Amino acid sequence: MAETPLADAARDLIENRAVMLTRMGEDGAIEVRDATMPAPHDDGIVIRVEAASVNPVDWKIRDGAAPFLDEDDLPAPIGRDCAGTIALLGPAAHNMLSIGQRVMAHVGGFDRGGQARFVRVDATEFTAIPDSVSTIDAGAVGLIGTTAWQGLFDHGRLEAGQSVLIHGGAGGVGHLAVQLARIKGATVYATCSGKDVAFVESLGAKMAIDYEAQDFEDVVSEMDLVFDLIGGAVQERSLAVIRDGGTLITTIAESDTVEAPPGIRVESYMARADNGVLAAILDHMKDATLRVEVGKTFPLDAAQDAYVHNREGHDRGKTVLLT
Ligand SMILES: NC(=O)c1ccc[n+]([C@@H]2O[C@H](COP(=O)([O-])OP(=O)(O)OC[C@H]3O[C@@H](n4cnc5c(N)ncnc54)[C@H](OP(=O)(O)O)[C@@H]3O)[C@@H](O)[C@H]2O)c1
Repeated sequence: MAETPLADAARDLIENRAVMLTRMGEDGAIEVRDATMPAPHDDGIVIRVEAASVNPVDWKIRDGAAPFLDEDDLPAPIGRDCAGTIALLGPAAHNMLSIGQRVMAHVGGFDRGGQARFVRVDATEFTAIPDSVSTIDAGAVGLIGTTAWQGLFDHGRLEAGQSVLIHGGAGGVGHLAVQLARIKGATVYATCSGKDVAFVESLGAKMAIDYEAQDFEDVVSEMDLVFDLIGGAVQERSLAVIRDGGTLITTIAESDTVEAPPGIRVESYMARADNGVLAAILDHMKDATLRVEVGKTFPLDAAQDAYVHNREGHDRGKTVLLT
């Protein structure tokens, strides 16, 4: 018997598919599989995901280079953020929430993944999307938004009138950090590759430094804050351009972090899901004072290609999966 459009719609409501990590290693398998339909917890929700971003942490986990999952956890879902509509409400969900409402989330726990058709999120992990912000843009901004905000303001304590050097200013976290620091009233310098200099300056950097053509030590000095999204030698060299009493904040794992020399505070951190920060980010996006650059989109079933693109593409802007 031929299936009716109603049957298709019903299937859409109950069938989940998710990007799953099935084994570790650089040639490790990302598979898009049928998955169980999640149920909302207490005051949480289940999101019918429409857009979810790919972040470097996803392929670092796949490659065994990030300590958040190990072989015993596999198969495991992947993806740190997403946007879509509310599909299910928890029994204690806020009475202002409704089925079908557009929301976005930073998925906090590694037991869940945003790269799926449905994902459960807790009340502290999601916020409503303003009308003027697209679902794709909202789906691209969850992890990078909280990372940039918490790095600059919670850990970096950046104030108006201060100077900040952002390493990796054209990347996902970096291009938001450049804009957020500019909105705060800081003077922003950023490193990036030559192809991205004009882009980073268009976001509000006083100067973008082409890291392939120029040493940043020859350009900046006495920075109040260095926000490091690159690590390694870049992190070490940065100590020379920070003023006495200044700060280096890095997103790169603790084991790689340089020791704090006298007079300079050095801190690494892990971004944590915070719906207050998400709401503040979207508030800036609502009136276009903050924009997220979406690079290439892929269908969910092409997640494998999206990971390759994100790891090797060198194009600026977020890689986004559409479900
Ligand atoms: N701790 C946390 O909670 C947390 C959260 C989010 C991200 N992270 C980490 O933070 C890092 C940045 O994340 P992301 O999402 O922004 O990555 P991304 O989108 O891949 O951006 C990285 C950027 O750095 C540029 N780049 C490469 N080498 C550089 C150098 N030597 N100097 C300056 N720029 C350089 C890249 O451009 P080209 O390729 O064109 O050179 C790219 O624009 C990643 O390692 C990620 O895993 C950590």
